[in-house]
Amino acid sequence: MRIHARVSIVGAAALLAAIISSEAPAHGDVAPQPVDTTHLPQIGAEWVDKNPYRDNEAAITTGASAYNQNCARCHGLGAVSGGIAPDLRELPDDLEGDEWYVYRVRNGAIRNGITYMPVFAETDGGPLSQEALWAIRAWLVTLDGAE
Ligand code: HEC
Repeated sequence: MRIHARVSIVGAAALLAAIISSEAPAHGDVAPQPVDTTHLPQIGAEWVDKNPYRDNEAAITTGASAYNQNCARCHGLGAVSGGIAPDLRELPDDLEGDEWYVYRVRNGAIRNGITYMPVFAETDGGPLSQEALWAIRAWLVTLDGAE
């Protein structure tokens, strides 16, 4: 009885992993991709509260591709959510939205040991620089959604 229950949990996990890995390519690259931000004004290691790249065209272009390589697999191509993660177009464009954005990319969403969203900020052990993450945010606020 006990063994049976274990086997089926392992089986379910394997099945889930198979589903996730087979679906992933349709939602963009799986492994986090390095983002070159050397052409943007450098921000430094200390996190700022407000997006320094808002309306910066170079940052917006970089952010669009950085998004597709790192976030689209969960938040959808073009930030149009397929349902498994929130629609990021709906995040308010103001300072409050900036703050919530920073909170999430620095902390991820991890509850009871389950990672719903991994940590993305390099300062917190993730793969992306503050520059890359603000570039993504600069692109997100150009999309139609919440003001
Ligand atoms: C593995 C899937 C996954 C990836 C990859 C991912 N996210 Fe998320 N994200 C989620 C999930 C799931 C939530 C909802 C978390 C919750 O509140 O339970 C979320 C929430 C968020 C939120 C808060 C949205 C809200 O309305 O509260 C922001 C901002 C965010 N993600 C930004 C990003 C950015 C930027 C990237 C890429 C650098 C990214 N995410 C990559 C799964 C992901």
